[in-house]
Formats: sequence, structure tokens, C-alpha cells
Amino acid sequence: MSKAAKIVILISGRGSNMTALIKACRSGEISADVVAVFSDRADAPGLQIAKAYGIDITSIERKNYSSKSEHEAAFLAALVGYEPDLICLAGFMRVLSANFVAHYNNKILNIHPSLLPKYTGLNTHARALDNNDEEHGCTVHYVIEELDGGPIVLQKSVSIAPGETEQSLADKVLAIEHQLYVDAVNSVLSRV
Ligand code: GRF
Repeated sequence: MSKAAKIVILISGRGSNMTALIKACRSGEISADVVAVFSDRADAPGLQIAKAYGIDITSIERKNYSSKSEHEAAFLAALVGYEPDLICLAGFMRVLSANFVAHYNNKILNIHPSLLPKYTGLNTHARALDNNDEEHGCTVHYVIEELDGGPIVLQKSVSIAPGETEQSLADKVLAIEHQLYVDAVNSVLSRV
């Protein structure tokens, strides 16, 4: 791309993956700018982190809209002015509709804490332990209407140690998520 790519990040919570992407853009590891961070929760801690970086923040809460489609329409209306080349979901806890995804076809990524297609949805670490899996991990994938269902960009695994707990496994996976997301964004931007 000739101009710097523009990334918008969507979060619902603490924003550690968001922070990793911001830092990578600021250091030049990713040749792009994070131009805005959006959240469906006004109290998402990640919003204040983004604000401290001088990035535009916007919260659009579901409770202020009468339907999912109106809530999504508000996101779309707020997004359009930023002209994002890439939208990165980073702990964003809403399933996007086909209509939303169609607006940004092949431009929305998500990070999910499992080795997809295993364990779509929630509680992935507990499910990997319950199944006595020997390995677990995380995946960055394109977002489609189907939950955690789009084409995989990158995936990385960790081994599950004897005596592993849900928390220790979550920590272990999170520790590799941040670099995986940076690498995946670079991979996708190199194809644009
Ligand atoms: C991460 O584990 C991510 O894989 C999942 O939600 C969590 C978000 O964590 N989608 P953070 O907000 O990026 O710290």
C-alpha cells in the first residue's frame, strides 16, 4: 500500500492484544496506524489505554439501541469516517452479522484463544483441559458471519503441562497471542 494502512480495533475489555497492536504500529513493526478504538462497553479498561496513546476512542453500548441491527448500524456509521483498511477484533464480545461483515469483506480479523476449528465460542481453556488435550493455542482468522469460523491467517500452539490449570493455561496462551496478532496483521497487510 502506498499510504499508511489504517487500523481500527474493537474491544470489550482489558485490551492487551489491542495494546500489542498499538505498540507494534508505533515502533514500526507494523506499517500502519491505529486510528481509532471502539468498544461496546464504556467501562472497557482498554479504552483508557488507547486514550493514553492519543488514539480516538468511541463506546457504543448495546443498551442504548433497541436491536442488534441498530447497534451495528451505529458502529458502521462511526467506522465509515475512519476508512479502515483493517478492523481488528481484540476481545470484542459480540458476534457480527452477515450485513456488518459484508461492509468490510476480508478486512476484519479476530484473535481466538484456541486452535480453531477446535473450541469456537467461550471457555476454550477449560474445554481443552476437560478433553485432556496435549496442546492448545490461539488463532487469528478472518471474520465471517459464522462464529470463529473464517479462514485462518496464523495459528500457534502451546503444550499443556501436567497439573495445568485454566488460569495457567490462559496465561500461557495470552503470552503468545500478542506476537501472533502482530504477525498476522503484517501478513494480511502484505497482501493488500
Ligand atoms: C483474548 O484471550 C482473545 O484471544 C480473546 O479475548 C481475550 C482478549 O484479551 N478473543 P485482551 O482484551 O486482548 O487482553
